[in-house]
Amino acid sequence: MTAEWARHAADGVLLDGFHALKHALRFGARVPVAVTTDRLAVRELARSLAPDLLDVLDGLLREVPEATLRGLVPRAHPTGVAALALRSSAPDWDGAGDGVPGPGAGAGTQEGAPLVVLDNPRNLGNVGAVVRLAAGAGAAGVLTTGDLDPWHPAAVRAGAGLHFAVPVARRQVGRLPRRPLLAFDPEGDDLRSVPLPPGAMLAFGSERHGLTDALRARADHLVALPMRPQVSSYNLATSVAMALYHWMARPS
Ligand SMILES: C[S@@+](CC[C@H](N)C(=O)[O-])C[C@H]1O[C@@H](n2cnc3c(N)ncnc32)[C@H](O)[C@@H]1O
Repeated sequence: MTAEWARHAADGVLLDGFHALKHALRFGARVPVAVTTDRLAVRELARSLAPDLLDVLDGLLREVPEATLRGLVPRAHPTGVAALALRSSAPDWDGAGDGVPGPGAGAGTQEGAPLVVLDNPRNLGNVGAVVRLAAGAGAAGVLTTGDLDPWHPAAVRAGAGLHFAVPVARRQVGRLPRRPLLAFDPEGDDLRSVPLPPGAMLAFGSERHGLTDALRARADHLVALPMRPQVSSYNLATSVAMALYHWMARPS
């Protein structure tokens, strides 16, 4: 088992815990290796939380001693489950892409769904939280500019395995898809007064410094989320949540 883990460790994405594995499997991730310290306990968990996956998990999970799990994942998840999945690539939105859609990529998104852009995010927890939001809201994808890898294990952990439910990729500002771009900034026009073009990109700045000059130059419109005077800004992930909810709550 450890040999099989080692074979996939370099390019595999760590799914840390039962919930990450559950989401990844539901959205079609390819999972070559999955281990647990207690198959019976996982079966019980699956019976109540993911009966749809009982058979898949039965066939996939191998039981290993706790010491083996600790050797593979130093701080293993309390559910005692860990797996490696093959990273999926983002679709070729308009010729600026990087390959074939991965499993689950784009599934469940609606025609005209927005694409979220995080402009040079610094916090991997925020990146994962935004992937989770995008997956739940049915957004078209999450793109990040800057140097952070949105598939970093800490981002995947914060995303609860939902990187497989929505396309996630890194793309610099000059290579963003050719779509209308609304950039979020407290100094912009109130979002409630600005129509959201179908398929628009919604861009959000970094936690410390806001939007980069390059992103501002590429933006078609600066928009603001309503906020009481004297409050400077919302947290990055909560800003994305408000914007996506605004899109979800639009009159049909
Ligand atoms: C924590 S804020 C960044 C604060 C940063 N100090 C700044 O100068 O903008 C992270 C991002 O969330 C978005 N954001 C936060 N509050 C917002 C608001 N009221 N209206 C629009 N966007 C907001 C923006 O995209 C911002 O760049």
